[in-house]
Parts: sequence; structure tokens; C-alpha cells
Amino acid sequence: MEIQLWRELLDPYQLAVDELTVKFHHIIEEHRNQGLYSPIESVDGRVKSIVSILDKMQRKNVSMNDIEKKIEDLAGIRIICQFEEDIETVASLIQNRSDMTIKSEKNYLKHVKQSGYRSLHLIIYYTVETLNGPRKLQAEIQIRTMAMDFWATIEHSLQY
Ligand code: GTP
Ligand code: MG
Repeated sequence: MEIQLWRELLDPYQLAVDELTVKFHHIIEEHRNQGLYSPIESVDGRVKSIVSILDKMQRKNVSMNDIEKKIEDLAGIRIICQFEEDIETVASLIQNRSDMTIKSEKNYLKHVKQSGYRSLHLIIYYTVETLNGPRKLQAEIQIRTMAMDFWATIEHSLQY
């Protein structure tokens, strides 16, 4: 696929990542301003790189036409919490919002992966406005504590 087409495909996902990151940052701010403890410690986001999209397409046998449907983490958000109890609080915050709809959940806290990986993954639908009108996109939100994140980073780097 031409680089220009990749750009067009991924651009709305960049917008989704930017908007979602702002919104989750703002949740931290709202708590601070009200003198409340924030269940969110920090937020990070990224659009999946073309290399890792190609890799995943091969791994999961996904065709070009199915990228947006089958690769749910083109837009990825990572939310870090201080405490494990905060994770559920953040999940309910997301559930109660009108701008995000939860499509599915993978609970690797209740069902720890064989690798030892722990995290709560939500796939959400989120709508962005583009030049061609609204686009309802999928995004993956990973919610975990700092300790879980530290572990995942180390374990991930050991795989290469
Ligand atoms: P991917 O094809 O890797 O995206 O996995 P999946 O489609 O089966 O989804 P899953 O929810 O299991 O994993 C999504 C993402 O969670 C991965 O891309 C990683 O970022 C992270 N992840 C899942 N399992 C592990 C693991 O065992 N170790 C680490 N470090 N990260 C993991
Ligand atoms: Mg992934």
C-alpha cells in the first residue's frame, strides 16, 4: 500500500489518540482541581506503526480490507493507575461516558496471562469528525498499575 494511503487510513486514528489523551488528562485535572484523589496517574497514547500493523496482519491473517475491523488497536491508549482498585474505577468512568462505548473487555487481572501479564483491556468505539464527516473508530485502552506496567515493559523487551 502507498504511503499516502497509509496516512489517510491512520490519520483519523491519530485524531482519536490525541482527543482521548486530552480527555483522560482532563480527568486527572478535574480530580486535582476538586481536591480529589485521581484514579488515573498518567496517560499515554500511540497510533500503531505501519511495521507492526503489517506484522499483525500476517500473524492474524488479516487482509487489507479488514484492517480497520480486525485490528482493534490501531489507536492505543495506556492508562496508569497507582493502585489496583483504581483500575475498576477507571473502567466505570469510561463506561459512564457518552462519548465512548465499550465493545469488549479482556480482564487479565482476573485471568492472568500465562506470561504473567496483568492488565485490563477495553476495546471502545469512539467517533471522530473528519473532512468526510463522522467516523466511528475502535480504540484499545489498556489500564494497569505502575507495577504491572513496569513488569510488562521488561517482559516485552525480553521478547526481542
Ligand atoms: P496482540 O495481537 O498482541 O495485540 O494481542 P491480542 O489481539 O490477542 O490482544 P491482547 O489483548 O491479548 O493484547 C493486546 C496488547 O496487550 C498487546 O499488543 C501488548 O501490548 C499487550 N500484551 C498482551 N499480552 C502481553 C504479554 O504477555 N506481555 C506483554 N508485555 N504485553 C502483553
Ligand atoms: Mg497490540
